Amino acid sequence: MIKAEKIRKFYGTGDSRSEILKGISLEIERGSFTVILGASGSGKSTLLNVLSGLERTNEGSVLYDGENIEELTDSGLTEFRKRRIGFIFQQYYLLPNLNVDKNVKMGAQLGGNKNYGEIIKMLGLGDKRDKYPHQLSGGEQQRVSAARALAKNPEVLFLDEPTGALDEETGRQMLDYISKLQKKSGFTVIMVTHNANIAQMAQKVIKMNSGKIAEEYENKTPKTAYEIGW
Ligand SMILES: Nc1ncnc2c1ncn2[C@@H]1O[C@H](COP(=O)(O)OP(=O)(O)O)[C@@H](O)[C@H]1O
Ligand SMILES: [Mg+2]
Repeated sequence: MIKAEKIRKFYGTGDSRSEILKGISLEIERGSFTVILGASGSGKSTLLNVLSGLERTNEGSVLYDGENIEELTDSGLTEFRKRRIGFIFQQYYLLPNLNVDKNVKMGAQLGGNKNYGEIIKMLGLGDKRDKYPHQLSGGEQQRVSAARALAKNPEVLFLDEPTGALDEETGRQMLDYISKLQKKSGFTVIMVTHNANIAQMAQKVIKMNSGKIAEEYENKTPKTAYEIGW
Protein backbone atom coordinates (compact mmCIF):
# COMPACT_ATOMS: atom_id res chain seq x y z
CA MET A 1 0.00 0.00 0.00
CA ILE A 2 1.18 3.48 -0.87
CA LYS A 3 -0.23 6.09 1.42
CA ALA A 4 -0.04 9.87 1.54
CA GLU A 5 -0.98 11.58 4.79
CA LYS A 6 -1.83 15.29 4.81
CA ILE A 7 0.84 16.27 2.33
CA ARG A 8 1.57 19.96 1.96
CA LYS A 9 4.03 21.42 -0.49
CA PHE A 10 5.06 25.04 -0.97
CA TYR A 11 7.11 26.77 -3.63
CA GLY A 12 8.82 30.12 -3.23
CA THR A 13 9.61 32.15 -0.13
CA GLY A 14 8.23 35.23 1.64
CA ASP A 15 5.49 37.05 -0.23
CA SER A 16 5.82 34.82 -3.26
CA ARG A 17 5.41 31.66 -1.21
CA SER A 18 2.48 29.66 -2.52
CA GLU A 19 0.89 26.45 -1.40
CA ILE A 20 0.82 23.94 -4.26
CA LEU A 21 -0.40 20.84 -2.42
CA LYS A 22 -2.92 21.74 0.26
CA GLY A 23 -3.19 18.75 2.55
CA ILE A 24 -3.54 15.68 0.37
CA SER A 25 -4.28 12.23 1.76
CA LEU A 26 -4.74 9.15 -0.39
CA GLU A 27 -4.25 5.41 -0.52
CA ILE A 28 -3.16 3.34 -3.48
CA GLU A 29 -3.29 -0.44 -3.51
CA ARG A 30 -0.29 -2.39 -4.74
CA GLY A 31 -0.78 -3.71 -8.26
CA SER A 32 -3.58 -1.26 -9.03
CA PHE A 33 -3.93 1.29 -11.85
CA THR A 34 -4.63 4.80 -10.59
CA VAL A 35 -5.11 7.94 -12.67
CA ILE A 36 -4.62 11.42 -11.25
CA LEU A 37 -6.79 13.74 -13.29
CA GLY A 38 -6.96 17.53 -13.27
CA ALA A 39 -6.56 20.76 -15.21
CA SER A 40 -3.17 22.23 -15.98
CA GLY A 41 -1.69 23.89 -12.89
CA SER A 42 -3.77 21.88 -10.41
CA GLY A 43 -0.66 20.29 -8.89
CA LYS A 44 -0.65 16.87 -10.55
CA SER A 45 3.05 16.79 -11.43
CA THR A 46 4.00 18.10 -8.01
CA LEU A 47 1.94 15.35 -6.38
CA LEU A 48 3.54 12.70 -8.59
CA ASN A 49 7.02 13.99 -7.82
CA VAL A 50 6.34 13.87 -4.11
CA LEU A 51 4.75 10.40 -4.19
CA SER A 52 7.72 9.02 -6.13
CA GLY A 53 10.35 10.60 -3.91
CA LEU A 54 11.67 12.93 -6.63
CA GLU A 55 10.81 15.84 -4.35
CA ARG A 56 10.19 16.12 -0.65
CA THR A 57 7.03 17.38 1.00
CA ASN A 58 7.05 20.32 3.39
CA GLU A 59 4.53 18.60 5.66
CA GLY A 60 2.98 15.17 5.87
CA SER A 61 4.15 11.66 5.07
CA VAL A 62 4.49 9.38 2.09
CA LEU A 63 4.40 5.76 3.22
CA TYR A 64 5.35 2.64 1.27
CA ASP A 65 4.03 -0.36 3.19
CA GLY A 66 4.31 1.70 6.34
CA GLU A 67 7.81 3.03 5.66
CA ASN A 68 7.89 6.82 5.59
CA ILE A 69 10.16 7.84 2.70
CA GLU A 70 10.25 11.41 4.06
CA GLU A 71 12.43 10.07 6.85
CA LEU A 72 15.09 8.72 4.49
CA THR A 73 18.35 10.61 4.07
CA ASP A 74 18.97 12.17 0.64
CA SER A 75 21.12 9.23 -0.42
CA GLY A 76 18.61 6.81 1.03
CA LEU A 77 15.87 8.47 -0.99
CA THR A 78 17.96 8.33 -4.18
CA GLU A 79 18.63 4.66 -3.57
CA PHE A 80 14.93 4.03 -2.96
CA ARG A 81 14.05 5.68 -6.27
CA LYS A 82 16.76 3.88 -8.19
CA ARG A 83 15.80 0.44 -6.99
CA ARG A 84 12.04 0.64 -6.72
CA ILE A 85 10.58 3.41 -8.86
CA GLY A 86 10.11 3.79 -12.61
CA PHE A 87 9.23 7.19 -14.04
CA ILE A 88 8.02 8.07 -17.53
CA PHE A 89 7.91 11.77 -18.33
CA GLN A 90 6.05 13.63 -21.06
CA GLN A 91 9.40 14.75 -22.44
CA TYR A 92 11.42 11.61 -22.84
CA TYR A 93 14.80 12.63 -21.38
CA LEU A 94 16.70 10.04 -23.39
CA LEU A 95 20.46 10.32 -23.54
CA PRO A 96 21.14 11.62 -27.06
CA ASN A 97 24.60 10.04 -27.37
CA LEU A 98 23.44 6.55 -26.50
CA ASN A 99 21.56 4.22 -28.81
CA VAL A 100 18.28 2.55 -27.88
CA ASP A 101 19.98 -0.50 -26.42
CA LYS A 102 22.26 1.54 -24.16
CA ASN A 103 19.51 3.90 -23.04
CA VAL A 104 17.45 0.94 -21.89
CA LYS A 105 20.49 -0.83 -20.45
CA MET A 106 21.02 2.15 -18.13
CA GLY A 107 17.61 1.61 -16.57
CA ALA A 108 18.19 -2.12 -16.38
CA GLN A 109 21.48 -1.67 -14.55
CA LEU A 110 19.87 0.53 -11.93
CA GLY A 111 17.53 -2.32 -11.07
CA GLY A 112 20.15 -5.05 -11.43
CA ASN A 113 18.24 -6.57 -14.35
CA LYS A 114 20.29 -8.32 -17.02
CA ASN A 115 17.38 -9.43 -19.13
CA TYR A 116 16.29 -6.12 -20.61
CA GLY A 117 16.30 -7.37 -24.22
CA GLU A 118 12.87 -8.85 -23.59
CA ILE A 119 11.43 -5.43 -22.67
CA ILE A 120 12.87 -3.88 -25.83
CA LYS A 121 11.13 -6.55 -27.87
CA MET A 122 7.85 -6.26 -25.97
CA LEU A 123 7.76 -2.55 -26.72
CA GLY A 124 8.26 -3.27 -30.41
CA LEU A 125 11.76 -1.79 -30.57
CA GLY A 126 13.65 -4.97 -31.51
CA ASP A 127 14.75 -3.59 -34.85
CA LYS A 128 15.70 -0.16 -33.42
CA ARG A 129 18.30 -1.20 -30.87
CA ASP A 130 21.16 0.47 -32.74
CA LYS A 131 19.32 3.72 -33.48
CA TYR A 132 19.99 6.98 -31.66
CA PRO A 133 17.12 9.06 -30.22
CA HIS A 134 17.21 11.64 -33.05
CA GLN A 135 16.64 8.83 -35.56
CA LEU A 136 13.34 7.87 -33.91
CA SER A 137 9.79 9.23 -34.08
CA GLY A 138 8.18 10.74 -30.98
CA GLY A 139 6.20 7.56 -30.35
CA GLU A 140 9.33 5.45 -30.60
CA GLN A 141 11.25 7.74 -28.26
CA GLN A 142 8.43 7.52 -25.71
CA ARG A 143 8.57 3.73 -25.99
CA VAL A 144 12.33 3.80 -25.34
CA SER A 145 11.66 5.95 -22.29
CA ALA A 146 9.04 3.41 -21.18
CA ALA A 147 11.45 0.53 -21.82
CA ARG A 148 14.11 2.26 -19.74
CA ALA A 149 11.69 2.74 -16.84
CA LEU A 150 10.35 -0.81 -17.10
CA ALA A 151 13.74 -2.48 -17.56
CA LYS A 152 14.55 -2.08 -13.91
CA ASN A 153 11.43 -4.03 -12.87
CA PRO A 154 10.02 -1.17 -10.81
CA GLU A 155 7.57 -1.82 -8.03
CA VAL A 156 5.75 1.34 -8.96
CA LEU A 157 5.57 2.97 -12.36
CA PHE A 158 4.80 6.69 -12.38
CA LEU A 159 3.77 8.35 -15.63
CA ASP A 160 3.37 12.10 -16.09
CA GLU A 161 1.25 12.83 -19.17
CA PRO A 162 2.93 9.99 -21.08
CA THR A 163 0.82 10.50 -24.19
CA GLY A 164 0.96 14.30 -24.17
CA ALA A 165 3.41 14.47 -27.06
CA LEU A 166 2.00 11.55 -29.04
CA ASP A 167 -0.61 11.29 -31.78
CA GLU A 168 -3.71 9.18 -31.15
CA GLU A 169 -2.42 5.93 -32.61
CA THR A 170 0.95 5.92 -30.84
CA GLY A 171 -0.73 7.20 -27.68
CA ARG A 172 -3.14 4.29 -27.60
CA GLN A 173 -0.32 1.86 -28.37
CA MET A 174 1.73 3.25 -25.50
CA LEU A 175 -1.12 2.87 -23.01
CA ASP A 176 -1.86 -0.60 -24.29
CA TYR A 177 1.77 -1.71 -23.78
CA ILE A 178 1.80 -0.35 -20.25
CA SER A 179 -1.43 -2.02 -19.28
CA LYS A 180 -0.41 -5.37 -20.81
CA LEU A 181 2.95 -5.29 -19.04
CA GLN A 182 1.22 -4.42 -15.80
CA LYS A 183 -1.07 -7.44 -16.12
CA LYS A 184 1.99 -9.61 -16.74
CA SER A 185 4.31 -8.21 -14.07
CA GLY A 186 1.90 -6.86 -11.47
CA PHE A 187 3.56 -3.51 -10.75
CA THR A 188 1.57 -0.52 -9.52
CA VAL A 189 0.71 2.20 -12.05
CA ILE A 190 0.12 5.82 -11.06
CA MET A 191 -0.51 8.02 -14.07
CA VAL A 192 -1.14 11.74 -14.37
CA THR A 193 -3.24 13.07 -17.23
CA HIS A 194 -5.58 15.95 -18.04
CA ASN A 195 -7.46 13.69 -20.47
CA ALA A 196 -10.69 12.42 -18.88
CA ASN A 197 -10.96 9.66 -21.50
CA ILE A 198 -7.75 8.06 -20.26
CA ALA A 199 -9.13 8.00 -16.71
CA GLN A 200 -11.59 5.33 -17.91
CA MET A 201 -8.68 2.88 -18.06
CA ALA A 202 -7.99 3.20 -14.34
CA GLN A 203 -9.38 1.25 -11.41
CA LYS A 204 -9.20 4.37 -9.29
CA VAL A 205 -9.45 8.02 -10.35
CA ILE A 206 -8.26 10.87 -8.17
CA LYS A 207 -9.40 14.29 -9.40
CA MET A 208 -7.35 17.31 -8.40
CA ASN A 209 -8.34 20.94 -8.31
CA SER A 210 -6.12 23.77 -7.00
CA GLY A 211 -3.83 21.53 -4.97
CA LYS A 212 -6.61 19.52 -3.36
CA ILE A 213 -8.40 16.28 -4.10
CA ALA A 214 -11.78 17.31 -5.48
CA GLU A 215 -13.18 13.85 -6.06
CA GLU A 216 -12.18 10.20 -5.88
CA TYR A 217 -13.98 7.27 -7.49
CA GLU A 218 -13.50 3.72 -8.73
CA ASN A 219 -14.26 2.28 -12.15
CA LYS A 220 -15.91 -1.12 -11.81
CA THR A 221 -15.02 -2.09 -15.38
CA PRO A 222 -11.94 -0.24 -16.59
CA LYS A 223 -11.68 0.12 -20.37
CA THR A 224 -8.77 -0.83 -22.59
CA ALA A 225 -6.66 1.68 -24.51
CA TYR A 226 -8.67 0.87 -27.63
CA GLU A 227 -12.11 1.24 -25.98
CA ILE A 228 -11.71 4.76 -24.63
CA GLY A 229 -12.45 7.94 -26.56
CA TRP A 230 -9.53 10.18 -27.44
N1 LIG B 1 9.48 24.45 -9.12
C1 LIG B 1 8.43 25.28 -9.00
N2 LIG B 1 8.58 26.51 -8.46
C2 LIG B 1 7.51 27.33 -8.31
N3 LIG B 1 6.26 27.02 -8.67
C3 LIG B 1 6.05 25.82 -9.22
C4 LIG B 1 7.12 24.87 -9.41
N4 LIG B 1 6.60 23.75 -9.98
C5 LIG B 1 5.28 23.98 -10.13
N5 LIG B 1 4.95 25.22 -9.68
C6 LIG B 1 3.58 25.78 -9.66
O1 LIG B 1 2.75 24.87 -8.99
C7 LIG B 1 1.47 24.78 -9.59
C8 LIG B 1 1.16 23.34 -9.92
O2 LIG B 1 2.09 22.89 -10.88
P1 LIG B 1 2.10 21.39 -11.42
O3 LIG B 1 2.22 20.46 -10.29
O4 LIG B 1 3.14 21.33 -12.48
O5 LIG B 1 0.63 21.27 -12.05
P2 LIG B 1 0.07 20.31 -13.20
O6 LIG B 1 1.03 19.18 -13.38
O7 LIG B 1 -1.27 19.89 -12.69
O8 LIG B 1 -0.05 21.15 -14.42
C9 LIG B 1 1.52 25.70 -10.80
O9 LIG B 1 0.91 26.91 -10.45
C10 LIG B 1 2.99 25.88 -11.05
O10 LIG B 1 3.24 27.13 -11.62
MG1 LIG C 1 2.12 18.56 -15.04
